[in-house]
Parts: sequence; structure tokens; C-alpha cells
Amino acid sequence: RWTVDINVEKQKSYPQISEAADYLRHGHVIAFPTETVYGLGADATNDAAVQGIFDAKGRPSDNPLIVHISNPDALHDLVSDISPEASQLIETFWPGPLTIIFKKKNGVFSDLVTAGLDTVGIRMPAHAVALELIGRSGKPLAAPSANTSGKPSPTAAEHVARDLSGRITGIVDGGETGVGLESTVIDCTVTPPMILRPGGVSAEEIEACIGKVHVDPSLKKEQSAPRSPGMKYTHYAPTAPLYLIKGKTEWIQQTIHRLQAGGKRVGLLVSSELAAELDADIVSVCGSREDPASTARSLYHAIRSFNDTDADIILAEAFEEKGIGTAIMNRLEKAAGHKWMKESSS
Ligand code: TXA
Ligand code: MG
Repeated sequence: RWTVDINVEKQKSYPQISEAADYLRHGHVIAFPTETVYGLGADATNDAAVQGIFDAKGRPSDNPLIVHISNPDALHDLVSDISPEASQLIETFWPGPLTIIFKKKNGVFSDLVTAGLDTVGIRMPAHAVALELIGRSGKPLAAPSANTSGKPSPTAAEHVARDLSGRITGIVDGGETGVGLESTVIDCTVTPPMILRPGGVSAEEIEACIGKVHVDPSLKKEQSAPRSPGMKYTHYAPTAPLYLIKGKTEWIQQTIHRLQAGGKRVGLLVSSELAAELDADIVSVCGSREDPASTARSLYHAIRSFNDTDADIILAEAFEEKGIGTAIMNRLEKAAGHKWMKESSS
């Protein structure tokens, strides 16, 4: 295998993108930036290329991939039905962090992309480099997040390199991604549409556009089977156990001291506001409570940063579940395996 590291700056036109597009056309696997997280791309119509994605990530084969396009007009060749709600969502949120599930056209995609389902998830990313790469490859690109399965999604090229170096043909380095969390996945084959994964576009924004939608009830319960296959796997986990923590600041500080007295090195994953009030062994600040978008942007980097430390346990702040906060808490719940430390109300 070759490795080509392609370094590009945003908002320019680059010969390296043509080179990467050539590799994609020839069935290679290339990581590229999007506005959410880095994707691991391959030609969605080529079985061997798509198999390369599953091999590089160690991804279970029953977990379907998202297909990326650079122009909404491409949809008509890929899916068999576009509902009025889907049209409305495309009009409002594409390009952007919203993946829509459609009934697929048969014989277009590798069956590996859709994991045997009769539906396919498609999005048009809002990122100049991604759009240029997809356009020049001339193919719909299947691309899951470019991390090893189970790890936090990559928000910088070096995260991709850490996980996948030597396992893929190359990385298009477009700097840090913007949103920092993956796209929202919404199933538009059902009425009303159903959110299967919270993400970059909030439920509030979607409802302002198309009215009431459902949210997959299994997102709130650990036991029931989620409708989006990927949501059932362990995700985003750092190497040390992570707990969500909720209580008064003094109680959190006492909890930290108690853990330290038991010989543990305690890591904190908290807003700048809470970081200013607490003492622990390792503190990773992830944005400000006043600006949830800043928390989303730095969350995965903050989770990954603990892997270079000797933290024995990580305590993560519980953020408010509204707007992008719903997606932040969904990812933190998964990283924590739903483990909480809560101050008893008495
Ligand atoms: O922001 C993103 O969506 C990033 C960037 C690279 O575009 N991609 C991403 O892909 O997060 P991935 O593979 O890590 O997550 C795709 C999610 C999984 O939970 C998968 O199960 C779900 O979408 N999915 C894909 N196709 C589906 C389908 N036909 N029905 C239900 N869920 C589907
Ligand atoms: Mg992923």
C-alpha cells in the first residue's frame, strides 16, 4: 500500500484533490474532512473499495454506511422515492450535517454499503474540500467516520492518522472540522419522519422546518434495539472508564477527593466554567456552557486527549439537553456506557 498525505488549506483549489479523486476512482480508501468529522471514503458502487472501509475500521458488516454526494440532483439516480418532507429538509439543510434515509434504487450501490437494507442514508456535506473531492471523483462516496470502530470520531487529520495510518491509502488534511459531532440521521421513509441519531442539525431546527417528528425511543433506553444499526455499538470510549457526573460543585469536588484518597488519578471533562471551580489531576476543558457549539466542536478531541494521560477515571460534566446539547449528551452517554454519579437529592 502507498500512503499519500495530502495537505490542503480550506477554500482553495488544489491539485492534490485531483490525485485523491484518482485514487478513489480506482477503488482506494481515502480519509477526507467534512464539516462534522473526518470521513473514510470509497466509491459506493465498488464492492472491493467498500470492503476496504470495513477492513480498515474493523467495522461490523451489519452497520450500513452513509453515502456522500456533492449535488442534490445526484439523488434521482440513487433513490426511488423522495418524500415532500425530505425535499423540504434538503432545501433547508443541504449542504449540511443532516443524513436522510431514503428507499434505495436497486443495483446502484454495493450491498455492503447498505448492509443488506432496502434503504440508504445520504448527505451532502458543507465542506469545500469534501464537495470538491466528491465532485472530481465522479462517484457517490460511502464514508463512515474515519476512526477505528469504537473510538471517538476524528475531528483532525492527526486523529485519523493515529487510528488508521498504514491501513488506508491517504488522508486529505483540511484542518479541524467545524461542527465536531456527526450528522443527524433522519428516516424519511416513515411518516412522520424519525430521528435515528441526534447530531449537527437539532430536532428543534428540523421541527421548525417540517413540523413534528418522532425520535427513536431506544435512544433513551439502553436495552431496546435502535433502528439505526450503528447506535447499538459501544462508541467514543476513552481508555479509562468515564462517568457522567451531576451534583453541586462542592459535592463534585468531594467526590474527586474521595476517589483520589482511594489512589485514583482523576480526569475531568468539563466546561471552562466548571473547570474554574474544581481541582483534579487532569482537566480537559471542552468549550463553554454559554456556547454549546464550542463544546460540540472540542468534545471528541477532549475525550481522545485522556489517552495520553495516566487518568484512572474520567468524570464528565452533564450538559443541557437542548439544541446541539442533545447530541453532546447522546455521545457522552455512549462514551460513559450510561454510567452516572449523581448527588442524592436528600
Ligand atoms: O457526520 C457524519 O455523518 C459522518 C461524516 C463522515 O459524514 N459520518 C458518519 O458515519 O458518522 P458513521 O458510519 O460513523 O455513522 C452512520 C450512522 C450509523 O449509526 C449507521 O447505522 C446509520 O448512520 N445508518 C446508515 N445507513 C442507515 C440506514 N439505511 N438505516 C438506518 N441507519 C443507517
Ligand atoms: Mg462513526
